Amino acid sequence: MCGIVGYIGRGDVKDELLSGLKELEYRGYDSAGIALMEQNHVTSFKATGKLKNLEQKAKEYAQDGGIGIGHTRWATHGKPTELNAHPHYGTYSYVVHNGIIENYVELKKELEAQGVKFVSQTDTEVIVHLFEKNLEKLGTGDKAFEATIAALEGAYAVLLLSKDVPETVYFARFGSPLMLGRNGKQEIFFASSDAAILGKATEVAYLEENCIGKVENGTIITDFEKGCSDLEYKALRGDKVSAQKGGFRFFMEKEIYEQGDVLSDTLMGRVFENRVHIDELEDMDLEGISAITICACGTSYHAALSSSYLFEHVAKIKTDVVIASEFRYKEPILTPDTLFVVISQSGETADTLEALKMAKNAGLQTLAVCNVDNSSIVRLCDSTILTRAGIEKGVASTKAFATQMAVLWMCALFFARKNGVACDMDAELKALRHLPKVTAEALRHHEKIKRLSKRYLHGHGFFFIGRDLFYPLAMEGALKLKEISYLHAEGYPAGEMKHGPIALADSELFTVALMPKSQLYEKMKSNVEELSARDATILTIAPEILDNIADDFLVIDEHGHVMSEYFEMMVVLQLLSMEVAIRLGNDVDMPRNLAKSVTVE
Ligand code: AGP
Repeated sequence: MCGIVGYIGRGDVKDELLSGLKELEYRGYDSAGIALMEQNHVTSFKATGKLKNLEQKAKEYAQDGGIGIGHTRWATHGKPTELNAHPHYGTYSYVVHNGIIENYVELKKELEAQGVKFVSQTDTEVIVHLFEKNLEKLGTGDKAFEATIAALEGAYAVLLLSKDVPETVYFARFGSPLMLGRNGKQEIFFASSDAAILGKATEVAYLEENCIGKVENGTIITDFEKGCSDLEYKALRGDKVSAQKGGFRFFMEKEIYEQGDVLSDTLMGRVFENRVHIDELEDMDLEGISAITICACGTSYHAALSSSYLFEHVAKIKTDVVIASEFRYKEPILTPDTLFVVISQSGETADTLEALKMAKNAGLQTLAVCNVDNSSIVRLCDSTILTRAGIEKGVASTKAFATQMAVLWMCALFFARKNGVACDMDAELKALRHLPKVTAEALRHHEKIKRLSKRYLHGHGFFFIGRDLFYPLAMEGALKLKEISYLHAEGYPAGEMKHGPIALADSELFTVALMPKSQLYEKMKSNVEELSARDATILTIAPEILDNIADDFLVIDEHGHVMSEYFEMMVVLQLLSMEVAIRLGNDVDMPRNLAKSVTVE
């Protein structure tokens, strides 16, 4: 959600900022902007829409050496207009910001009373005016920045530069991620995600919470009252190439195709002859644990829900799942016999992070299933199992979901063994090892789905139906379709349709039925028949052609293990939503109104 970058060095400042923003564009693409400072002269460009509009606007400009800050926006306060785009400016200072200033209304009123004129509707603009007022009052940039940050409430990361404080960029991290990269070429980079500095910085320091600092004449200075204490640099691994589309039409398509490979990485060193071994769980003290509560949002929530069936079926451990944004307001009863698990691709989702803080404050043991090492959630949790999906750029999560499910399945097997629950461990492990193959082979459906998709563009809605752990998978199928095709879709328990939603059934209602052979197959058939009798248009994903009850069929393998069916159907649903969205002409990777990581409540 929003991306920020900064650059200090002798290179082409504009190019450095734009290439960093390019890597973060998937986080927000309502508008973008940059400000470049050379001694005490600042030039700024802003444009609405995608980054290419900003590139176009700034194309004539070149600046070798200096300081720059940049931003790509997902609108929270105010429409996606140019005036609301960052950097926001006062008379001589410029700021980029990620997060939310919760007390901006009061601050704005105070500043307006002092004669400040605001031009945007954003919360961000108060920062820059407050800084200038403080500078007038306090006389130095350092004091002004400290006082400004002290007045802000909320969660945010900020970069600020000012003509009155030449050769300096101020930074602050309070609740939103910010990191500092460097290399041996006297270049310093700022970014809200390391994707922006891969291939540029060789070392990165992830700033701790609640700290400020500045870079002045190329030197990083942190001796402020709330200065970031010793910056701990780590080698920055990963290359840019792995984050490129590699011949696919969209990142989402590439990420769907990568799932077999990333699942192999996820399983590596964790699945053995007769057991799973997860270091991160072995290291925890789980003796008194008799229940699990899982919190997550969106797709990660669907992984959580699916896994709750596994924890209860396979490991016989009581498992509750709560949507993270609901958790903190329901005054949950938290007891120390509960392991608190959060699931997050980004590790930065504000709702999940807040739920995690509550659980920590209540003294619960906490475990993250996360894709981004060093993210806020990872740093806060007692232990983390990394999903190893690699950078996921498509806003619609695919490979992150696949790897979350693999990790959670392994966790269920870990608890089954630990608690001495009888289960056919050999069959489970065999199916687990086959996962990369099953997922890769599921891509064979792609051509048929491309053809089929043209029949599923203009109905009055979709129902994705399933039972047991195929119900959360149905919810995930519906979410995928909604977010990239903008068609209305619901994931529903198949047995519940007759209690109301079947009233919607007619030939314009599309139903996608998930029908695994190994689970409640006959019951699913009856539910599909009920819809068929009301003339609903039905696509079955089943191990056979059911031409007496459905219109279209995607025939999956009879794997003999429910999780293999789950993963094959998962790929089918991902491809279906993508092909429908492509036919509708949508930008699959950057769907309207969305952002990759949601760092506001
Ligand atoms: C997934 O397709 C979505 N874009 C979204 O629901 C996402 O899963 C959710 O925002 C949670 O994100 P996280 O996994 O990074 O915490």
